[in-house]
Amino acid sequence: MAMRVTAGLCLLHLCLALLRGVAGSEGKEYNRYDFPKDFIFGASTSAYQVEGAALHDGRKPSIYDTFAHRSKYDTRNPDVACDQYHKYKEDVQLMVETGLDAYRFSISWSRLIPDGRGAVNFKGLRYYNNLINELISHGIEPHVTLVHTDLPQVLENEYGGFLNVRIIEDFTSYVDVCFREFGDRVRHWTTFNEANIFVFGGYDAGNTPPSRCSSPFGFINCTKGNSTTEPYIAAHHILLAHAYAVKLYKENYKAKQRGLVGINLLSYHFAPLTDTREDILACQRAYDFLIGWFMHPLTYGDYPEIMKKNVGNRIPVFTKKESKLLKGSFDFIGVNYYYIQKVKDNSMSLTKTPRDLFADMAVKWIFPNSSASPKEFTFPNEPWGFERVLEYYKDVYANPLIFIHENGQAESYNTAIQDQFRVEYLHDHIGRLLDVVRNGSNTQGYFVWSLLDVYELLFSFDATFGLYYVDYNDPNLTRHPKLSQRWYSQFLKGKNATTNIQMNQAEDTTIGARSSI
Ligand code: NOJ
Repeated sequence: MAMRVTAGLCLLHLCLALLRGVAGSEGKEYNRYDFPKDFIFGASTSAYQVEGAALHDGRKPSIYDTFAHRSKYDTRNPDVACDQYHKYKEDVQLMVETGLDAYRFSISWSRLIPDGRGAVNFKGLRYYNNLINELISHGIEPHVTLVHTDLPQVLENEYGGFLNVRIIEDFTSYVDVCFREFGDRVRHWTTFNEANIFVFGGYDAGNTPPSRCSSPFGFINCTKGNSTTEPYIAAHHILLAHAYAVKLYKENYKAKQRGLVGINLLSYHFAPLTDTREDILACQRAYDFLIGWFMHPLTYGDYPEIMKKNVGNRIPVFTKKESKLLKGSFDFIGVNYYYIQKVKDNSMSLTKTPRDLFADMAVKWIFPNSSASPKEFTFPNEPWGFERVLEYYKDVYANPLIFIHENGQAESYNTAIQDQFRVEYLHDHIGRLLDVVRNGSNTQGYFVWSLLDVYELLFSFDATFGLYYVDYNDPNLTRHPKLSQRWYSQFLKGKNATTNIQMNQAEDTTIGARSSI
């Protein structure tokens, strides 16, 4: 019954959204004091993308390392990345200079427990203790992700990682170490980053770790995998691993540590390509398959009806006990939002077998800038989609506590210094967020992706998002503030947010020199 009401609500929500228009606070001035008093602003990174020291001090490879090493890379080495492992004190100074309330980073499981289970690596433990202490001593709150694409490779080799139910026990033991060792200082834990896209990219398209897919569905030529079943199996185990981690925290740590545990989802706003009923329904299916896939079990204890109908016996079934465990097993949802995804009905795909996730969803995605090369890639600045997706969570999933874990603008590495386009993107999205919060969304924090120009999963170092430019041609990997850092910093320090901001003279000179790199 609850499900049917929800489905109705979804459709109503989408229709209302179409009628409401797109006007918002773009162009208006606002400042951080317009947000609720406890609203936090921060910036994000993840372990493999910034830490470097990939093979130092006992760390062993993860599936992310393996993936990064598949393609050739130049002197800008992902195993060194921004070398935050050695430069964390310098980076905390940058956070202070910017005025961040919080820093979202992830723990590398294979640095902390190099063999995936068993012995804890003392040097890994020391590194994360140092980083956390450094943050806290500067008044910056750590928000920690436990798995950001980087499952220890050894577990992938030994039993197939997330495809095997054994992952639940190993993940729970790993998070137990994290809660026990760091939980006296960490209050915000995220079990999995972009759980939905991790399984889609890793097990259907195959273009992200662990690179599994099957013909004709893969975006690459995978050597192993099954796109018709594996995404559903991996997602099932991720959901259960998440729920068991939450149970563990509630039973053993929550009373004393008073923290919160959530999960993160990449959250597009899906907009119908045309206003036909078919495309509007396709849009609803996209919401159900990409967000409902995780949010329905977490809120209502089971997968969305449309998934069960279209996927049939390829989607695993929760037992009564599992369903009970899942329902309500989160304190917050981490939302990563970048742009609107246009969708179009493709009901024909349901007449075919075999089917992958997309064919089961029966939609076609119309990618923005699909002809642009990654080097020229920037996202369309459409902040109304940000508002819609947050309204969707509010209406369909009972207004959960949300932290915006990632939002930001991509650009080619070398042209990303005077990043006025990024200033505009951030200004418009944070402005829209203010509208949404005023409209009752329980969103309590916002993190820019990313603090630094980091190693990017799909674009290596070619497309970057950083508030700070990292000079990869300089052996010191010197960080330089971009215009967007100046803008964010002024906003965080209480100035009215306006896109009319310029670098001062001295900075301009340095930037002039750098932009010829
Ligand atoms: C999502 C991922 O969480 C992060 O690792 C990635 O670098 C950004 N989006 C940008 O693509």
